Amino acid sequence: MWERVLVAALAAFIVFKVTLITYRRRKYPEPHEDWANVNLDDLHFPEGFHWGTATAAHQVEGHQANNWTVHEAAKGLEASGAACDHWNRWKDDFQLLSDLGMTSYRFSIEWSRLEPTEGAWDEAALAVYAEMVDDLVGRGIRPVVTLHHFTHPDWWEAKGGFADRANIPAFAAYCERVVDTLADRVKTWVTVNEPTVFSTMGYTLGMFPPGRRSIPTTLRVMRNLLFAHGTVYKALKPKHPELQFGVAKNVTLFDPKNRWSPIDWPLARLMEWFWNGAWRSGMQNGRMFFKDIPEAKGTLDFVGLNYYTHVLVGPASVSLLKMKFPKRRQEVATEFGYPMYAEGLRRAIEFLAPLNVPIEITENGVADAEDTLRTEHLRRHLWVLSNAVKDGHDVRSYHHWSLMDNFEWAEGYSMRFGLHRVDFESQERTLRPSGEVYKAIVGRR
Ligand code: FCB
Repeated sequence: MWERVLVAALAAFIVFKVTLITYRRRKYPEPHEDWANVNLDDLHFPEGFHWGTATAAHQVEGHQANNWTVHEAAKGLEASGAACDHWNRWKDDFQLLSDLGMTSYRFSIEWSRLEPTEGAWDEAALAVYAEMVDDLVGRGIRPVVTLHHFTHPDWWEAKGGFADRANIPAFAAYCERVVDTLADRVKTWVTVNEPTVFSTMGYTLGMFPPGRRSIPTTLRVMRNLLFAHGTVYKALKPKHPELQFGVAKNVTLFDPKNRWSPIDWPLARLMEWFWNGAWRSGMQNGRMFFKDIPEAKGTLDFVGLNYYTHVLVGPASVSLLKMKFPKRRQEVATEFGYPMYAEGLRRAIEFLAPLNVPIEITENGVADAEDTLRTEHLRRHLWVLSNAVKDGHDVRSYHHWSLMDNFEWAEGYSMRFGLHRVDFESQERTLRPSGEVYKAIVGRR
């Protein structure tokens, strides 16, 4: 008797699940454009829309000493070394921005340069960043400054970094020092870059420092990043009400590999919630992974969107751990492995829209050493973005990743994301054909 009830209940549950999944499938479609028939020249951007490129300190400056250089050595990864020697060549690099016609530039400040040992501040290094900012402003380029882009001093890492909430005051003190110094010239601040990537790569997959593999720690770091942002916001916003503070969120979309599969759909939804939804609800409600973080609630003046791709998930998704990405038949695989899916940029914007703050595209780009894909990639994404803006989404800027080839974290120098090709022997920069295309598009506006 009970067995029958159990079987019936199970059957009912399965039917219910499948119905729900089918319903959601209709509710969350995965659009694909017929690109051959799209007029990619049909672009409309409002006056004052910001055109930019993005970089991060560790990836371009060269000669760092931080948590990442320690990780590179410990894991036998390619060393970041001199990178683009940008610390010495930034003036020339800013000329490249002017030559491209950029009106905005996103870059990051390296905490380990400013506070190489705990409590010892290097005023000269801070003065260099101030000089950079002055130079950009003088060129009519808006500086967008990231305070934490994956790197920090190793002494702070040794104390547990973002895994320990007791460390957040030191991070906030660093932010306060920088913001107080530059507040008169820098109005747009990104506190933290890609919190989900930072936590997952560093604490679940172990590919980023500190190279750990622990899901509970990953969740703790995610919450602490939210807490850190909220703490910085609450300390600095009252002091500088005219400044805009935000987070650069990597919105990777998760879609079911097999659209008919009752396993792939819930799996995709689960990943989507873990990667995107939990963060958004943390910002909206001050609650993440079943714990309260009231400090974070309502602390975004804008949201930065880093958009690259969608990931197709199914039971075989363990292959993702080896960074093997499946793609749809009609999609092109990029050099990083993941597919080019420009349609997803619209979905990522729609995902962030309920936060009710302006959106800045803080990153979008493609690894493409031979520059065979970048032009198409750029044009498709700008077309999608243009439609989103036309339809009323409040997107204020587009920053292409990246101004030039640079140190691509665990991938070293193998992945080339630059509008400029960099010869790392001679440090020569050469504008790629796709860079010419971007320049022409921006120039027309
Ligand atoms: C993003 C990072 C950025 C760069 C691009 C390719 O996840 O924020 O530093 O490496 O990917």
